[in-house]
Parts: sequence; C-alpha cells; structure tokens
Amino acid sequence: MAELKLKNVRKSFGATEIIKGVDLSIASGEFVVFVGPSGCGKSTLLRMIAGLEAVNSGQIEIDHLNVTSTEPSKRGIAMVFQSYALYPHMTVEENMGFGLEMAGIDKAGRRSMVLEAARILNLEPYLERKPKALSGGQRQRVAIGRAIVRKPKIFLFDEPLSNLDAELRVRMRLEIASLHRRLGATMVYVTHDQIEAMTLATRIVALRAGVVEQVGSPMELYRNPDNMFVAGFIGSPRMNFVPAKTLGMDGLGNCILEVAALGIETIHVPLRRPQATFPADVTLGIRPEHLSEQRSEGSTRISLSCDIVEQLGNVSYVHAWTNLDNDFIAEWRRVEKPSTGDELTFWIAPEDCLLFGPDGQRL
Ligand SMILES: Nc1ncnc2c1ncn2[C@@H]1O[C@H](COP(=O)(O)OP(=O)(O)OP(=O)(O)O)[C@@H](O)[C@H]1O
Ligand SMILES: [Mg+2]
Repeated sequence: MAELKLKNVRKSFGATEIIKGVDLSIASGEFVVFVGPSGCGKSTLLRMIAGLEAVNSGQIEIDHLNVTSTEPSKRGIAMVFQSYALYPHMTVEENMGFGLEMAGIDKAGRRSMVLEAARILNLEPYLERKPKALSGGQRQRVAIGRAIVRKPKIFLFDEPLSNLDAELRVRMRLEIASLHRRLGATMVYVTHDQIEAMTLATRIVALRAGVVEQVGSPMELYRNPDNMFVAGFIGSPRMNFVPAKTLGMDGLGNCILEVAALGIETIHVPLRRPQATFPADVTLGIRPEHLSEQRSEGSTRISLSCDIVEQLGNVSYVHAWTNLDNDFIAEWRRVEKPSTGDELTFWIAPEDCLLFGPDGQRL
C-alpha cells in the first residue's frame, strides 16, 4: 500500500508535448482508473509512474519519496500489460517466479511466494503447465500473478483485459475487484471500457490530449461532469447534445431555454451555479436513459423522428433525428418497437438536463 503523487508532470516526444502538466494525488489503497480517447497519453502516464518513460519535468512521489529518477525496479511497482507476454518455454510456476529469481531469491523462497499468489488467483492446478496449455483468462491471471509475487506497493494495469472475450472480461473484472479488496493495494488501471471504469474505480481520471479534464468518483463524473468532453465520454450510449437558445432566468435559478431541435418552446433547466449573464447559444445535454415514454410531473415533451432501432434484449436504443437533423439516441423499454419514420414523443425531467457553454464548459 502506498500513496502516489504526480506534480505538474510533463512529457514530450520530440517537439510534441504528450503529457501537459498532470497533477494527481492517489491515496493509499485507492483504485484509480485512467480513461480517455486513444492517443490521449494514458499508457505514457502509466509508464512514467512505472519509470519506463522518463519525465521532462515535474515530480513523481511514492509515499512522500521523490522517485522521479529512481529506476523502475526500485520503485516498488508492478505493471500488468495488455499483451501479457509469458515465456512460452517456462511453466506457470517458472513464469511467476522469474522476477524473483532475477532478484536473487532462492528456490524455496520463490516457491512459497508463487504458491501464495497461485492460491489468491486460483492457479494452483496449473503450476506445472506451459502457457500454451492455458486459456486466455488463465494466462492473464499468470501475468497478474507475476505482479503479485513481487508484493508491489502499487499495481499498474494497462488495459489488461482487452484481449479477452466478453464473458472472460466480466469474470476477470470481478477477479481484479476482489483482488483489490483482498490485497488492499493501490491500483492504477487504464481502460477503454466504460463498464470496467465505472465498476472498478474508486476515482476516474478523465484525460484528453495529455490534460486531466476531471477527477472524481464514477457517479460524480456521470452525474456532474465539468464539461462536454467528460459528459460525452462517461456513459453509454453517449450523451446527446443539441443546440439551444437561452431566453433568460426564472426566479428559481433556472435558465429558460428554447430548444427548437426537440420541439421545446421553453424548458427551465437548473444551472450548476447561478450566473448573471449567459451566452445566447448553448448546448443541451440529455442522456439516452433519461428519456421516458411516460409523462411525469414537471416533465417536458420532446419530439423525435425514428431512424433505426437496436434491440439488445433487455433494452432497445432508438436512433432518431431531431427537427434540425441532429442525431439523437433514446432508450426504449417497451417490447413493441417503433419503425423508421415514426414520429416519437418522449418526456424529459428538466433536472436531468445539463447545460454547456460555447467553450464546452458546464453552465
Ligand atoms: N515512444 C514514442 N515516441 C513518439 N511518440 C509516442 C511514443 N509513445 C507514445 N507516443 C505518442 O504519444 C501519444 C500518447 O500515446 P499513449 O500510448 O500514451 O496513448 P494512450 O492514451 O495509451 O492510447 P491507447 O488508448 O490507444 O492505448 C500518442 O500520440 C502516441 O503516438
Ligand atoms: Mg495505451
């Protein structure tokens, strides 16, 4: 268990700055997940924490110790990669014990440490097997076992499940969650997968182009995003964004909007913080799951035109057009599905709407 601090950490490759001054404090025992679009610098940041990539400026601290120039093996960190690269000619036990052997630990010592990790990961029956005789999930567990035996203070995972099929991902996700519970170790985890981020993280760090856009618990980022980037990135299917015009404030701190795209004459949307002036043109954010086919107290009517429907079994998603030809996704819970060209009526609660200014920041 250890604390991890990044202080104004920067990294360039050639003339291109990839990590643009990241500050982050991770408490001991936290499970922090980095999310962001491909190329935003998630792996680079993780590799900098591991010491596999030098920083250009800034400082990395582990348990209040400056490790910015400390070599990787001395940082007390273990990293699990997407491509888990086991040694094919070694057994599971040898693969897991290899790092310990390099560290000069004798055979008996290695064996007891490997057995302990194998017990935690349910790998005991496979210790004598070679990797080719293992399933994808078992191989991934060996890769995690290789990290566990070193008793690191901090675990770093870079998309460790993305090579696995859907069912195995779910199982391994639960195993990683329970591993975190049992070891109580600090974990930093990179993923593209919304569900992994939402379910594993104590806090999510949303990165865009080398900049931290928001840090918070999964539900904070879902409910209370700071900007359109985070609002669009967290949640699946993604939040709908439609243009709207501001008409002023009501006496209750709500912004009055006209949303021609959705056929709304006026809707009173709560603001994050009261403000005296508004831009005339704003963007309204509505999540697909917040549309209802039933009217409820205080809800506002929305009209859309059905394009196509995706049925997933438990739920369907209507891909629709607004009056202004913006595409729009709405969750559909009834069994009978609408057809292309149908005019659809939905209802939305104003408090489920988010408002963004022209710069993409939340209003
Ligand atoms: N060694 C390198 N030399 C030059 N550019 C690099 C190097 N490593 C990474 N980059 C660039 O830095 C940027 C960030 O890369 P990084 O691998 O950190 O992204 P990522 O967020 O992990 O993306 P993905 O989700 O696709 O894995 C990319 O534009 C990448 O091309
Ligand atoms: Mg990456």
